[in-house]
Amino acid sequence: MERSDSVVPVRTWAHAVVTGGAGFVGSHLCTALLDQGAAVTCVDDFCTGTPDNVAHLMDRPGFTLLRADVTEPFEVKRPADLVLHFASPASPADYLRLPLHTLETGSLGTRNALALARRHDARFILASTSEAYGDPQQHPQNERYWGHVNPVGPRSVYDEAKRFGEALTTAEAGTNGTDTGIVRLFNTYGPRMRGHDGRAVPTFIRQALAGEPLTVTGDGTQTRSLAYIDDTVRGILAMAGSDLLGPVNIGNADEITMLDLARTIIQLAGSRSTVEYIGRPTDDPAVRCPDITLARGKLQWAPVVPVDEGLTRTIDWFRHQAA
Ligand SMILES: NC(=O)c1ccc[n+]([C@@H]2O[C@H](COP(=O)([O-])OP(=O)(O)OC[C@H]3O[C@@H](n4cnc5c(N)ncnc54)[C@H](O)[C@@H]3O)[C@@H](O)[C@H]2O)c1
Repeated sequence: MERSDSVVPVRTWAHAVVTGGAGFVGSHLCTALLDQGAAVTCVDDFCTGTPDNVAHLMDRPGFTLLRADVTEPFEVKRPADLVLHFASPASPADYLRLPLHTLETGSLGTRNALALARRHDARFILASTSEAYGDPQQHPQNERYWGHVNPVGPRSVYDEAKRFGEALTTAEAGTNGTDTGIVRLFNTYGPRMRGHDGRAVPTFIRQALAGEPLTVTGDGTQTRSLAYIDDTVRGILAMAGSDLLGPVNIGNADEITMLDLARTIIQLAGSRSTVEYIGRPTDDPAVRCPDITLARGKLQWAPVVPVDEGLTRTIDWFRHQAA
């Protein structure tokens, strides 16, 4: 799981490549890396992301936007010392709409991003996911748990693509000595999510701001753990700066039921919306909560943004977008 006991992130980056950099998480990573003084090449095919997400970076020195589909081999114009592989449809609405592209991005795309890292002798970080645990039978989930995934269910295109990406990344490190790390991200939320991407936080916020009923699936007792994007970015960059192979969970260990989340958003948005119960998707996990002992111990990382504060910032962003 780890190469050494060295845990203090000491590395700085001259040039980072962020695949999926025009998406929600990727765009925040690009911003944070530029803020740290790195040059950044954002590689994206815009299948779920948009250039608008990095419009604020276009004039910054050292920022390059490269339109490319990572399922095809790709190259960058200058030596890179970090590759963050974040390209992948990520919301259920997106990966159910793009099932084959999701599988190919997790497999061929990961192979091509790993090859780039190998050619450049760069540190490589794979964005994996809590979905690798499927509908878990162990709670909370630590990194030693192998998961409970339906390999032919509708979510499998995403879950299995990520699991394959983890296997490929681990094999690449063992076979070619590439400096790799795997982060398993749990649900993250914040500005630049899309109101119609089907994930709970942006859906509820969009509905609350429009005065529409908040559509809670099932009876709303299923739980998720929600990390604010700034905390997630800090965790990812701590992992990049370490020499850990992972996987390492990055997420908030505070659980919230979907019904409580809906009610909290209604209250924070000052909305008069009500809650409406709708059917639950196939294979929707009942519980999801990370054990972050490893990240706390090895990366000295823990989330610090309280959920009310993160949601308020996100609601403000959505309100501003709508204005
Ligand atoms: N947001 C979360 O809560 C969360 C949780 C777990 C894991 N992740 C992982 O983090 C990464 C980013 O997720 P996100 O929420 O920002 O999703 P997103 O859809 O906003 O961003 C994904 C980006 O990848 C790009 N992309 C997809 N396939 C590509 C391809 N073949 N070539 C080039 N670009 C491609 C999309 O256009 C988009 O800009 C994903 O790998 C996802 O699996 C996210």
